[in-house]
Amino acid sequence: MKINPNSKWHQQTNIIHSGISRSQNNETSEPIYLTSGYIYKTAEEAESKFLGEREGFIYSRYGNPTVHSFETRLSDIEGCEKSIATSSGMSAVSSTLLSLLKSGDHIISSRALFGSCRYVIEDILPKFGIEVTFIDGIDLDQWETAMKSNTVCGFLESPSNPMLEICDINKISQILHSNKAKLIVDNAFCTSIIQKPIQLGADIVVYSATKHIDGQGRCLGGAVIGNEEFIENTLRPFIRHTGPALSPFNAWVLNKGLETLEIRMEQHCKNALKVAEELSKNKKINKIIFPGLPSHPQYDLIKNQMNNSGSIITFQVNGKKEDTFNFLNNLDLIKISNNLGDSKSLITHPFTTTHQRLSLVEKEKLGITDTVVRLSVGLENKNDILYDLQKSLESI
Ligand SMILES: Cc1ncc(COP(=O)(O)O)c(C=O)c1O
Repeated sequence: MKINPNSKWHQQTNIIHSGISRSQNNETSEPIYLTSGYIYKTAEEAESKFLGEREGFIYSRYGNPTVHSFETRLSDIEGCEKSIATSSGMSAVSSTLLSLLKSGDHIISSRALFGSCRYVIEDILPKFGIEVTFIDGIDLDQWETAMKSNTVCGFLESPSNPMLEICDINKISQILHSNKAKLIVDNAFCTSIIQKPIQLGADIVVYSATKHIDGQGRCLGGAVIGNEEFIENTLRPFIRHTGPALSPFNAWVLNKGLETLEIRMEQHCKNALKVAEELSKNKKINKIIFPGLPSHPQYDLIKNQMNNSGSIITFQVNGKKEDTFNFLNNLDLIKISNNLGDSKSLITHPFTTTHQRLSLVEKEKLGITDTVVRLSVGLENKNDILYDLQKSLESI
């Protein structure tokens, strides 16, 4: 697939080559510029760089060559003008929202969000006088009804964490654009390999690079992608002065992660589809949600919006909370961890971990019961993953 119209190469080629800034040694692999500051030959040079008259790095909170290389590669595969890397997915989310919104503004958000995203929108934004409306993100009428004259943006995750709800990015962006509001999409579960929200109509995409972009559970990172106007005039000044900069070392790790992202995602998706198909036949499971199964309630939308089904499977164990815990505790290969998007298969119980702080009523609205588990299917042999799951399900 060719995304960047200015590049003669395909996505898989750009993901390996774009954004490299080689040193005078002409190394093959990307160098790590592990430096906090930069030296100026003269005081005049320092002055002109601070004035923005001359290009160049000033301080690594503002920008760094290794971080810049990661940002360039990311915007290239997303097919978008600009991106900014951040220290984590949550700093990407919170910086985007806090730089865009001011007191008196209104945000509409899908209620099906990762626990910390929900905390930022529900608990932090109102402290700054920002009005928040939570809706069922899959219901287009609710987006229409929630729109107000002061609505500045909408926020959604698709697929959502952990119930894998799919929002119609194209239609929702049209609703928001009719009021000049922007759509922000958290694309952590898909990555731009599976879904390109900007091309579907979204304005801003946020990532937890900690997940599939690193893909090997090594470091935290995040990114925000959007047009030049938002990134340069709104977000960059906020990030420069508040400081959630990505470390150059982590940027290097994430850049190497990007090189294998497309082939890893393909394998994650193949493994997850096989596991989901087999698990859907298992009597110890009540309900299984996976974007690659025709039983997913938004299967038609998935086919239009995503080019593959991802690595996450959510299912409900047939039993009680104790049975679900026994199932988790009896796993051998698959590890209990609230992280996801790793080459290692990981499993978590959202009710008591990632979504613990939600009220019982909210959990119920979202379908997060105490027998729901979220499985992040890794890159191990798919038969070994299945064997571990089936053996542990047998034991309950
Ligand atoms: C959908 C989603 N957004 C954001 C985050 C936060 O990312 P990070 O842990 O890198 O801050 C997560 C983490 O699990 C997530 O699942």
